[in-house]
Amino acid sequence: MRAQRSQVAVVGAGPSGLLLSHLLAAADVESVVLESRSEEHVAARVRAGILEHSTVQLLTDAGLAGRLRAQGDEHRGIHLQWPHERHHVDFVDLTGRSVWVYGQTEVQKDLVDAARARGQDVRHEVADVALHDLAGDHPHVTFTDASGNPQRLDVDAVVGCDGAFGPGRAAVPEAVRSSWSRTYPYSWLGILADVPPSTDELIYAWHPDGFAMHSMRSATVSRLYLQVPNGTDVADWPDDRVWDALATRLGHGQDGWELTPGPVTGKSVLPMRSYVQTPMRHGRLFLAGDAAHTVPPTGAKGLNLAVADVALLAPALAALLREGNPALADAYSDTALRRVWRCTHFSWWMTTMLHTSGDPFDEQLQLSQLRWVATSEAGAAGLAENYAGLPIGF
Ligand code: APR
Ligand code: PHB
Repeated sequence: MRAQRSQVAVVGAGPSGLLLSHLLAAADVESVVLESRSEEHVAARVRAGILEHSTVQLLTDAGLAGRLRAQGDEHRGIHLQWPHERHHVDFVDLTGRSVWVYGQTEVQKDLVDAARARGQDVRHEVADVALHDLAGDHPHVTFTDASGNPQRLDVDAVVGCDGAFGPGRAAVPEAVRSSWSRTYPYSWLGILADVPPSTDELIYAWHPDGFAMHSMRSATVSRLYLQVPNGTDVADWPDDRVWDALATRLGHGQDGWELTPGPVTGKSVLPMRSYVQTPMRHGRLFLAGDAAHTVPPTGAKGLNLAVADVALLAPALAALLREGNPALADAYSDTALRRVWRCTHFSWWMTTMLHTSGDPFDEQLQLSQLRWVATSEAGAAGLAENYAGLPIGF
């Protein structure tokens, strides 16, 4: 087994892993990123596309927002709708903060380009990643590299940026970890379509047939979602059926608004789940992003929460490893979890407000809540503050 040394081992080359390695490098902290899939596989994952105000600010400060600001779309807010009513919630008027539409795939591309430009050590297609001696000051990671050779990496800290199914979560001893989860009784069927969006800003629609959303990726590519039962097979949803359901739920023909269908280039079913695991730090192991928490996509928080974790963790690790000051590292888990639970609550709130359960009493409660949020300044401000995003470390 070949042994190497570095300061930080980052498991996972998704957005949280690559962003962390970028921020660490800017603070003169060396890291090695270990990723089980190929670069092409990671790059091809289709995920959400809304960036909070503070995420855009952080990417800008880190020199990672050139393409985002050139090709992304700044939005003032969202449209909230139910049959025969559509209301715009203006985040800029309510909070002074906007959001940007810029696909996670594009953020990933920018992170990969930046990693290549700075010569970041990223090992793809590794296997058997195992974390050792996490309770002491000198942990190590063993893995098998892409050529099948056993490797050992001696470090000062390990970060699990390895998502919902990586080794990071389970590496926190059962005796010290707690977890909470909620699986929702519905899923999203999502499509990508080569057609200009039929709306200027996102539409979140409550409908008796189920939730629908109109999002976009660019002036020529639309992204749309439908609430479907869990276990739905995309084969049962040919394109025409998808467009018909979208037209009904989004109110095609209402007040002259029309939904323009087009060629579908991607279709998938996404499960909806909330999950939180604490603590987000155990000894010299730290967790960030989906490794510690998962949110349903309704609040557009997944990527933004991963960025907020990393924005706290990078300076904490730099202070610990470069100055021997543990204060920020010791506070990391509690500080990050404040935002994690805020976003977990907001994502649950948006999900339960907008998805039909078939319960007639729930339906009336949902409609009353939507009317309040859409027409009361206080109600709208609450949604706007959470959606546009709270300051990092709030
Ligand atoms: N060894 C090495 N890498 C691993 C392992 C392992 N055993 N297990 C998982 N990984 C890699 C995955 O292949 C993936 O590329 O860890 C990475 C985790 O990336 P993400 O799942 O994208 O998680 P994160 O970087 O935290 O980003 C969170 O992604 O899923 C969305 O909605 C989520 O937007 C949020 C964002
Ligand atoms: C998306 O553009 O894919 C998207 C936008 C907002 C969400 C979820 C997904 O809440």
